[in-house]
Amino acid sequence: MASAQEINNARFSEEALSWDSNKRHGESTQKAFEAIQQYVPAFEDGRNKELDVLEIGCGTGLVSFMLAPHVRSLIGVDTADGMISAFSAKLSAIDKPNLCAVNHLLTNADSPQLQGTAALLATQRGEESAPPYRFDLVVSHLTLHHIPSLPQILATLHACLKPGGVVALTDYEDFGPEAVQFHPIRKRPGVERHGIKRDEMEELLLGTGFNEVRTEKAFVLRKEVEAEGGKPAREMDFPFLMCYGMKI
Ligand SMILES: C[S@@+](CC[C@H](N)C(=O)[O-])C[C@H]1O[C@@H](n2cnc3c(N)ncnc32)[C@H](O)[C@@H]1O
Repeated sequence: MASAQEINNARFSEEALSWDSNKRHGESTQKAFEAIQQYVPAFEDGRNKELDVLEIGCGTGLVSFMLAPHVRSLIGVDTADGMISAFSAKLSAIDKPNLCAVNHLLTNADSPQLQGTAALLATQRGEESAPPYRFDLVVSHLTLHHIPSLPQILATLHACLKPGGVVALTDYEDFGPEAVQFHPIRKRPGVERHGIKRDEMEELLLGTGFNEVRTEKAFVLRKEVEAEGGKPAREMDFPFLMCYGMKI
């Protein structure tokens, strides 16, 4: 039997080519980008161009390509090869890119895939720096609900950060039984949880060792949902949480 990860990889690889043409994807990533800018202090005090960014579940790069012009570097990781191919196709149109993406299930801050990619980007910008490469900011949008173990991924992200680095993770909130409708029934296999829970995320971030933790409603996405359970097809508002924390 296929694992949830394999089901996800197949679905997202298949959806990759049409991903960017879905206007809800454009809307949600624009809102995530704005939330990241609001929450991450470097965008407030003008140090954003010094940021080395890691993005988990970068997909086709909707958030990545918005963020990249504002930061020093960005590495996206994603487990679906179709998503990485779509990301790389867009990258090929850019002269001297400061971002790239790698097909990788990140479970270790020192993984050769991550470290090798970071070394490559550093070399391309003419920097002589030594591994291990660590990051100033880790972002992720609409990916936490696919990841089997939240404590495990948060521990990995914490290890990926430099001291003073921050996570700014956005995903839809599990606000109750209706949150399940975020995904149509046919897309539910492979969805690990139907949104993230505010109190749980706060506890997990604190338990991982993050400081200045904030788990707050950052924006709302209005989205069409299918008819289900006697209710008609309609538009529903889905709240999104920003999960923020700093490594000291
Ligand atoms: C809903 S899509 C969001 C993509 C992108 N962040 C966006 O908003 O357009 C979720 C993405 O997470 C990726 N993904 C799922 N599980 C993952 C994991 N364990 N590690 C990294 N990426 C993962 C999927 O392949 C997919 O590209």
